[in-house]
Amino acid sequence: MSDRKAILHIEGMAPIELPIYSGTTGPDVIDVRSLVSKGIFTYDPGFVSTASCESKITYIDGDKGVLLHRGYPIEELANNSSYLETCYLLIYGELPTTEQLADFEEQVSKKTMVHEQLVNLFRGFRRDAHPMAIMCGVVGALSAFYHDRLDISDEAHREESALRLIGKMPTLAAMSYKYSIGQPFMYPRNDLNYSENFLHMMFGNPCEESKVDPVLARAMDKIFMLHADHEQNASTSTVRLAGSSGANPFACIASGIAALWGPAHGGANEAVLDMLEEIGDVSQIDTFIAKAKDKNDPFRLMGFGHRVYKNFDPRAKVMRQTCDEVLDLLGIEDDPLLQIAKRLEQIALEDEYFIQRKLYPNVDFYSGIILKAIGIPTSMFTVIFAMARTVGWIAHWHEMHSGPYRIGRPRQLYTGETAREYPKK
Ligand code: CMC
Repeated sequence: MSDRKAILHIEGMAPIELPIYSGTTGPDVIDVRSLVSKGIFTYDPGFVSTASCESKITYIDGDKGVLLHRGYPIEELANNSSYLETCYLLIYGELPTTEQLADFEEQVSKKTMVHEQLVNLFRGFRRDAHPMAIMCGVVGALSAFYHDRLDISDEAHREESALRLIGKMPTLAAMSYKYSIGQPFMYPRNDLNYSENFLHMMFGNPCEESKVDPVLARAMDKIFMLHADHEQNASTSTVRLAGSSGANPFACIASGIAALWGPAHGGANEAVLDMLEEIGDVSQIDTFIAKAKDKNDPFRLMGFGHRVYKNFDPRAKVMRQTCDEVLDLLGIEDDPLLQIAKRLEQIALEDEYFIQRKLYPNVDFYSGIILKAIGIPTSMFTVIFAMARTVGWIAHWHEMHSGPYRIGRPRQLYTGETAREYPKK
């Protein structure tokens, strides 16, 4: 907090003093809450310069390309931590001790099974349903199955919901895939770690012992970690907004999944791969770059640009390195899509249009190539993002309910008709 004040001068009105607050780092914020009592709203479509809440979880410096979770840089977490350790950090605020981590891992693993009757819900979907459509439905439906501990004012209940969601998301994600290919659902295995267990449920079958490559499981774990949280993005803000009405956590996370699905947000990873396939050959890149620059063409280079990063997305840097490692491990030397991706990146980084607008590759640019190499079908990419982001959503939801909050209720600049009489008949 600071003693500085902003003075707002509006013609015909006395000057209005607005308090200015400073966080521990990052831009100061002007508290505009008193304006409504003076009959004024602020206008900020897309919330470009609005701080919607106070938070201690994640910090981003978009100009420098910095991402910190509870103060720890994402690069250090990606190289030294595990997904579940990062989950603990996001939820509880500190890195766990060895014992705390072991206990947390055990608690999560005890929550991986889902109610057997959920299988019936899956069977109601068409086989060709998009797995994100299934996830929106089944995650919301969890509140119908786990309604025993849904008192959001009780911290222990909130913690139980967090563990249930982190534990069950991989199981539901894998089920949505197995259902689409007509294979039996695989039960989780508690002797495997989080990422190994996910790959087991995705690619195992009941006829033989699952063999999970530990290196691919580590790559998967890194992908989960890089997607774990990203402060007040569209889906997290959606979860907070839904949560602010007092909705139960499963319903809130389902709303986050729905918001994530769009191609401007989490759906971009699927869209990147579709785009690379559409480009098809390095020789076609110039045509697509021209399309991306053409204001009359809705085409955008997917995996490029970010609302907050005006520098390289730090997650994309780690992702690029992981991509090289995974392709190397799998002996994929000349992956044509990777060739197109690398060339596209190079051209975009040198092109005036992209430089001027500070459009750098984002996290979704490389993740799809890794996931494809691991054997994950394209339609599952955003599901994996949702799985990994669940901890971020639930950490923000938990933080919001740990202090005072009000229902989210934005106002508007109304430009429609003013009051008029209904025509007489
Ligand atoms: N290709 C071509 N032009 C672009 C692109 C792009 N990918 N992204 C932005 N621009 C242009 C845009 O046309 C505008 O140009 P002008 O100033 O001449 O009108 C300028 O750059 C600013 O764009 P904006 O749409 O105002 O920026 P925004 O902050 O509202 O949108 C974004 C950010 C991520 C939605 C956008 O960059 C985009 O659509 N990118 C492609 C989709 C994508 O990769 N999304 C994943 C984001 S990272 C993961 C996540 O959040 O889930």
